[in-house]
Order: sequence, then structure tokens, then C-alpha cells
Amino acid sequence: RVLVLAWSEWKVLGAAFLCLVVAATGETAGPYVTGKVLDAIRNGDGLAAGAIGMVVAAEAASVLFSGCRGWLFLLAAAHLRQTLRLQLFSHLVHQDLDFFQGVPAAELSARFSTEVPLVSMAVPRGTNLLLRSLGMALVVGTAMVRLAPGLALLALLELPLGITARRIHSARRQALQQSMLEASARTASGVQESVAAIETIRIFSAEEEEEERHRQDLDKELRLKERMELELAGFTLIQRLLRLAIRVLVLFQSHQQLREGSITPGVLVTFLLYRDTVGSHVQVLLFGFNEFMTNVAAGQKIWEYLDQEPTRDMSGTLKPSKLRGDVTFQRVSFTYPGNPERPVLKDVSFELRSGEVTALAGHNGSGKSTTVALLERLRDPGSGKVLLDGIPLLEYENQYLHRQVVLVEQDPVLFSGTIRENIVLGLEHCEESELQEAATAAGAMEFIQGLEHGWDTEVGEHGGRLAAGERCRLALARAMLRRPTVLILDEALDDGDEGAARRWVRTGLARTVLVVSHRPRVLDAADRLVVLEHGAVAEAGTPAELRERRGAYSRLLQ
Ligand SMILES: Nc1ncnc2c1ncn2[C@@H]1O[C@H](COP(=O)(O)OP(=O)(O)OP(=O)(O)O)[C@@H](O)[C@H]1O
Ligand SMILES: [Mg+2]
Repeated sequence: RVLVLAWSEWKVLGAAFLCLVVAATGETAGPYVTGKVLDAIRNGDGLAAGAIGMVVAAEAASVLFSGCRGWLFLLAAAHLRQTLRLQLFSHLVHQDLDFFQGVPAAELSARFSTEVPLVSMAVPRGTNLLLRSLGMALVVGTAMVRLAPGLALLALLELPLGITARRIHSARRQALQQSMLEASARTASGVQESVAAIETIRIFSAEEEEEERHRQDLDKELRLKERMELELAGFTLIQRLLRLAIRVLVLFQSHQQLREGSITPGVLVTFLLYRDTVGSHVQVLLFGFNEFMTNVAAGQKIWEYLDQEPTRDMSGTLKPSKLRGDVTFQRVSFTYPGNPERPVLKDVSFELRSGEVTALAGHNGSGKSTTVALLERLRDPGSGKVLLDGIPLLEYENQYLHRQVVLVEQDPVLFSGTIRENIVLGLEHCEESELQEAATAAGAMEFIQGLEHGWDTEVGEHGGRLAAGERCRLALARAMLRRPTVLILDEALDDGDEGAARRWVRTGLARTVLVVSHRPRVLDAADRLVVLEHGAVAEAGTPAELRERRGAYSRLLQ
């Protein structure tokens, strides 16, 4: 999968590969020419300008092109990181809501910032290392064998020993790395959670407890890191001792061969230079391959996220130019996937009529917000149907539906940005007059005009610089601007004026309104009422009828 991902960058990677070949050629030629020059000097032929030129050319080509190679591989990595982040993000925003309940937001963002770079580095780094070092090790290794077979065999003895040690080390390192990533994602998630809940922490003076938790998280990370570094140090030591022993053997042997005259000093110099080259490439190869596998393994969670497909049916295509706004709940039942034993809505049937304000009442947890989520198509019913103008919601095109059916949530969410940006959110263009009209209808105009920067006031993270009531009015204005066919207000009118919904219907800002509320004044102001009890419809009718009936509605008001 990492390779498939990398294929999108084949041009940059290809160019980098070309540079790599040229650089490697220069790197191989350098020591060879150096050896030749040395022998020429010894034979008294003098220093030919041509020979020196060749050494310089070989080294220069190697330096220049390996620089370009490094730059191009880094460029490819940066592009890949961008692609992968974008893929992951666009996948996430289309994910089912249930997906987000299982994954803390901070953990997701930690994965974005630590694991994506690891994976996107893996391919360019891996290709770079594997191709270059493998190629170089083979070419130079062969040259060594041809120059001095006996010495070469001795020198290459380092390979099998090194590989064995590396394999043992790499398996351990991979496991540690994985735990390390998990641990740092958890730490990051802890910090974000604490910061987000700082007021609650202050209220319950839980600062010390949070500090302690963070200390424990950090300790755990530190211990893992210490283990990793200790093992690396031990491994490096063994590796170095091994190399030293072999180097001594090679020197001893070459000394004898020089005395016997079976090799010239020039050949020995070339050989020793080659030996260092092969040694470093083999090191890189072993270490790099190890790192490559570790980094690819870091991507495991990312692929898991990318594999998780939204389960919702998004195949709807209907986009009628006119909607009446009649809504029907037809024997709807619903259970949250997170709690499959407990049905939240049971056989719910009711209607919302165009031109009317219908209120939904019920105790806490009776299923009002869930009903609303089904009408907004945030979730789909387990059984039964929700119809808009007689057609099931899922047959409407998704974006169209969300322009027609607009919800002001129980706790409306604002984004950091200006008031204007928050109200316009997602609309391509809108007139200033429409904006003003929406804000006026929502009762937000007065406070917006009172602000120093007016429409361009920054609301802060989650709208934290505004009062709760002001946030609510902005959310209402955001909804009104869309002139929805069906407007749903989940407790959004509870501290506003109760006649607002009817006014909006009368002035054509919305056709059908569903108001969820606990406040008797808001409920009584509706044209009709639906009362939910434990996820089932207990009563429906006009407020006056229900008051007279002395049933569920009267019980609720008490
Ligand atoms: N994401 C969820 N996963 C599992 N259960 C949930 C989830 N959301 C809500 N519930 C449960 O569904 C039931 C109905 O919740 P809902 O939010 O619809 O109530 P409500 O009528 O809007 O209450 P309130 O008046 O307090 O807003 C509750 O018992 C709640 O615990
Ligand atoms: Mg609710």
C-alpha cells in the first residue's frame, strides 16, 4: 500500500533515482581512480593533470548528484505527506458519527502529526536506501572481490555476522516503537483533553490529579525511550567491536600480501576505500530496511482508518426544485450501535405539517434529540421510515437535503473564526442583505452591532469568547440564512422568545418548524405537540387539547 501511494510521485522519485545512479557511479569511480593515481606516482610517472582531473570529476559528480538525490527524495516525502493527510482527512469527515465516538479526537490528531510523516517518509527513504545501498554494495563488493579475492572474503565476513545481530535488534525495536507511538498518542490526547476541560478542572480543583496523570503518561514514555536507546547503544557497541576485529584481521592479511608482492599499494588503497564504502552501505541497508519496516508498521492504524468505509447509504439523487415540507415519521425504531441492548426509539409515528410549528416534548433521555438526528439524517432508522413530502430521506441527494432540513443543535458548535464566517459556513455566496435579515430574525443583530469589530469579531475556539445565549443566536442566524424548508430547533428557543418560530413560518423564513423544548411557554406557543415517553409517542395534538386531556403532557408539565 505504501508503494501504491508512492506511485503518485513517480516523476520526482524517477528523477531522484537518476541522480542516484549518477552519484553512485561517481562514488565507485572515485576510489578506483585514486588507486591508479597512487600507483602512477609510485612508478615515477609523475602526477598527470588528467588523472587528478578524473578524481575531481568523479568526486564532484558524486557530491552534486547525491545532493540532488537527497533533495528530490525529501520533496517526494513532503508531497506524499500532503496527499496522505488529505486522504485521511477527507475520509474522516465522511465517516459515520459512531466512528468518532470510539476514537478520542486528540488521538486522531496525534496520529495525523506523528504517524503520517513516518509513513510518508518511508517510501522515499526506503527507495533511496534500498536502491542506492543495495546497488552500491553489490557493485563495490564485486569490485573488491576482483581486486583481491582473499582480502575481500575476509572483509565481507562482517556481513552475515552484522545481519544476524541487526535482525535480533530490529525485532525488539519494532515492538518498542509501536508501544512508544501508542504511549505518545495517549499523552497528547491527555493534554488536549485537560486543556479542553480546563474550566471543569478548575471548578473541581482537579489540577493536581491531572498533573499526576500527565506525569504518569510521560514516565511511561520516558521508560520506553530509555529502553530503546539502551538497546540501541548495546547493539552499536557489539557492531563496532565486530567491525574492529575484522578490520584488524584484514590489515594483518594485507600486510602479508603486500610483502609477498601479490598486491600493489595502489590496489590496497582502492580496496580499503571500497571496504569503507561497502561497510557504510551495508550498515545503511540493514539499518534503513529495519527503519523502513518500523515506519511502515506505524502506518497500520492509518490504513485501518482508511479502510473503514462509511456504512450510510449516500446513493440518493433527488433534488426537487420545490418542497412543501411535510414530514412523516412512519413506525420508526432506533438503537444506538454503541448500546445495542437498549432501543431508544420504539415504533414512533407522527407528522409535521407545512406551515406549522410542531413542538416535541418529553423528559430528559426520552429520545427527542435522537428523533431530531434521524430527521436531519445524522443517523438512519433501524426500522421504519422518515419521509419528506412522502419520499424517504435517503432518496434525496445528501447535500441538497442538508440545505433543506436544517438543525440548530442543543449545544451549537461554532468554529474559531469571525462571526460572519460562522454564519456563512458552507454556503458558496450570499448577499449582505440576506445575512442581515437572518441575523435580525435570530435576534443576533443587536449584539453583533454592539461589538467593536461587528461582523468581523473573532469568536475564539468553539465560540468561547461569546456568551452561551449569543452562541445560540449565531447558530439560529446560521440556520435562518439557509431559508430551510424544515427547521429543527433542539432547545434553541429555550432562552429566546417563544413566538419566534411562528413568526419565521409566517414571514417565509422556514416552512415547517420542529421545536424541541422543556419550557411550557415554548411548548404552548406551538401549533401542535408530540409528547415522547421512553422513546415512544405518548400523546399528540394541539397544546389546548393535550392540556384538557390531562395525560402525558400534563404529567410532564408537573
Ligand atoms: N451516542 C449515543 N450512544 C448511545 N446511547 C445514546 C447516544 N446518544 C444518546 N443516547 C441515549 O439515548 C437516549 C435518548 O437520548 P436523547 O439525546 O435523544 O434524549 P433527549 O430526549 O434529547 O434528552 P434531553 O432532553 O436531555 O436532551 C438516552 O438514554 C441516551 O443515553
Ligand atoms: Mg436532547
